[in-house]
Amino acid sequence: MDTKDSSPLAQLSEEALAIKLDPTLLPKHVAIIMDGNGRWAELRRLPRIAGHREGIKSVREMVSGCLELGINALTIYAFSQENWNRPVQETSSLMGLLEYYLSTERTKLIEQGVRLRMIGRLDALPASARRWALATEQDTSHLDKLHLTVALSYSGRTEIVDAVRELLQEVQDGKLQPDDVDESRIQQYLYTHELPDPDLLIRTSGETRISNFLLWQLAYTELYFTPILWPDFRRRELLLALLEYQRRERRFGRVLSAVSS
Ligand code: IPE
Ligand code: IPE
Ligand code: MG
Repeated sequence: MDTKDSSPLAQLSEEALAIKLDPTLLPKHVAIIMDGNGRWAELRRLPRIAGHREGIKSVREMVSGCLELGINALTIYAFSQENWNRPVQETSSLMGLLEYYLSTERTKLIEQGVRLRMIGRLDALPASARRWALATEQDTSHLDKLHLTVALSYSGRTEIVDAVRELLQEVQDGKLQPDDVDESRIQQYLYTHELPDPDLLIRTSGETRISNFLLWQLAYTELYFTPILWPDFRRRELLLALLEYQRRERRFGRVLSAVSS
C-alpha cells in the first residue's frame, strides 16, 4: 500500500502522518531557510513585518516538533548578510522582532532544554539585540535536548573567509603547518564546528536556491523545497518533509541499490 507518490500523504491527518514516520530514520540535524514571510503578508495586504511576526509561530512549532520527535539539532536562517540591503525600515523591524523573540522566549527555551546558539557576523547587529542574543546563549549553554542555532547576519562565504583567516593566523604563529590542513581541520574553524552537518535542508516559498546558507556543510545534505510560505509551515508540513526525507536513498557517492533491492 506504500506509494512513491507523496501527494496521497497530503490527505492524511497529522496524527496519521506522525505514525508513518520511522523513528529510527530521522535526521539528526535539520536546517531551514525560512522564506516567504513578505509574500505571505502581501497576499493579505498586510505590511511585510506581519509576515515575519507570524513566522515566529512556525519557529516555535519547529522547536516543539524537533523536541517531540527527538531531532537533536535545528539550524534556522533568520537573516542573511545580504538582507542588510533591504530598506532600513524592514531591517530595523526585524531586529526589533529578534529582540522580542529572545526576550519572550528565553524562559520557555530553558524549560524545554533548548541550547541556543547564534552564527553569523553578530557585531553587525544593534547592541541591544546582540546583548539579548549573548545572554540567551549563556543562559542555555548547559542544555542539550535540542541544539537550536539561529543564523543571523550570516553568509556562508563569509564563514569560510573567517575560517581561512583563522587558519592562516595559526600558520603564521607557527602552530599549524600547511600540510595539517584537511577537511576536518577546516570544519573545526567553521561557526558550526560543534554540530554535525545537516541531514535535511528545507526551503519554503518555492525558491530553489541556497542563498549563501551553510555552503560547506550542505555538501551531502538532502534538499527539500516546498511552495508553502514560511508562516504556513507548521508541524504538519514538517512531518511531510520528514516523510519525504525517509524516502530518499543517501548514497554519499557509493552504490547502495544492490543491497536494498
Ligand atoms: C524570509 O522571508 C525572512 C527573511 C529573509 C528575513 P522574506 O522576507 O524573504 O519573504 P519574501 O521572500 O519576500 O516573501
Ligand atoms: C534567504 O532568503 C535568507 C533567509 C531566509 C534569512 P532571501 O529571501 O533573502 O533569499 P533570496 O534573496 O530570495 O535569495
Ligand atoms: Mg525571501
